[in-house]
Amino acid sequence: MKTYNIAVLKGDGIGIEVTNQSLKVLDSVRKKFNLDIQTQEYLVGGSALDNCNQSLPEATIEGCKSADAVLFGAIGGPKWDNLKHDSPEKGLLELRKTLQVFVNIRPAFVFDSLVMASTLKPEVISGVDLVVVRELISGIYFGEPRGIEIRDGEKVGFNTMFYTESEISRIAHYAFKLANTRQKKLCVVDKANVLEVSKLWREVVGRIAKQYNHIDVSYQYVDNASMQLIRNPKDFDVILTSNLFGDILSDEASQLTGSIGLLPSASIGDKYALYEPIHGSAPDIAGQDIANPMASILSLAMMFENTFEEQCIAKTIKDCVSNVLEEGVRSKDIAQFGVKKVLGCNAIGDLIATKILEY
Ligand code: IPM
Ligand code: MG
Repeated sequence: MKTYNIAVLKGDGIGIEVTNQSLKVLDSVRKKFNLDIQTQEYLVGGSALDNCNQSLPEATIEGCKSADAVLFGAIGGPKWDNLKHDSPEKGLLELRKTLQVFVNIRPAFVFDSLVMASTLKPEVISGVDLVVVRELISGIYFGEPRGIEIRDGEKVGFNTMFYTESEISRIAHYAFKLANTRQKKLCVVDKANVLEVSKLWREVVGRIAKQYNHIDVSYQYVDNASMQLIRNPKDFDVILTSNLFGDILSDEASQLTGSIGLLPSASIGDKYALYEPIHGSAPDIAGQDIANPMASILSLAMMFENTFEEQCIAKTIKDCVSNVLEEGVRSKDIAQFGVKKVLGCNAIGDLIATKILEY
């Protein structure tokens, strides 16, 4: 029997309830495919701050390193917003950095049954299937110097956007290879008309592109790209971009699909992999059983696809999510006018878990 060890970091807010639904799905997968799947929970974010006064305890790092993959929920909340020494977000960023998961894959695809759930016109979004490849452990998120200090009698805040050639090159290779398995179209999004760091991205990507000359490479400035993404999202296949731009564009892309509650992600490095929904902890709706668990469940599917290379299981999970949607089941975020079957987070988790057993 194959054994898989998964470190589970539910985090805060709706991170907890959506991850619980993924654990139900995991139970079904275990039974149906006769696998030995071990899960071990660890604290991160606000709940870790409450329990051990740090957002990323050593035990969590060790647990993630010794697992085959990490399933992450979400972190943060007003309770921990103004701490001086630490923050939930810091815990997540440190975890990504420690695990060296430099590429963040954020697929945005529109389920046929949800074409009406987006605020955009059906003809614009129907059939959208794109992937944002976001650099995850460098850029302005991590660049030094950074801080807030007094200069000439007033406070100044500053951050540094920073990339090395090798950081750009390793993610560019990843994106080219991914594009090769898809529509062979890669769009690099940057701000090369203003930023030196973007100029370096273009130089490095341009050099690497020569090794992949069957891939159609284009470049867009991020302001234009954010417009084109709404205007004609079907123009895009793989979008390669830096940490900050990828953060912004992936939230935008989620609205093409109907809800941010639908978008999974995989963060991958040479040694470790972490899977998480792209949404946050949504403290405003936490604990009300109205969150959409699908982004977390689809993140689990990505884990089976990428880390465990269990394509059949990944497909089963994705198909079951899709089937539930086709039956008209909706969480609150995607319940457009007239939909009758609006279910809570728990009920949707139960339903998908049952579907997997019956699949
Ligand atoms: C995301 C989130 C995080 C990020 C926050 C919570 C630090 O927005 O995963 O997109 O900015 O990367
Ligand atoms: Mg984000």
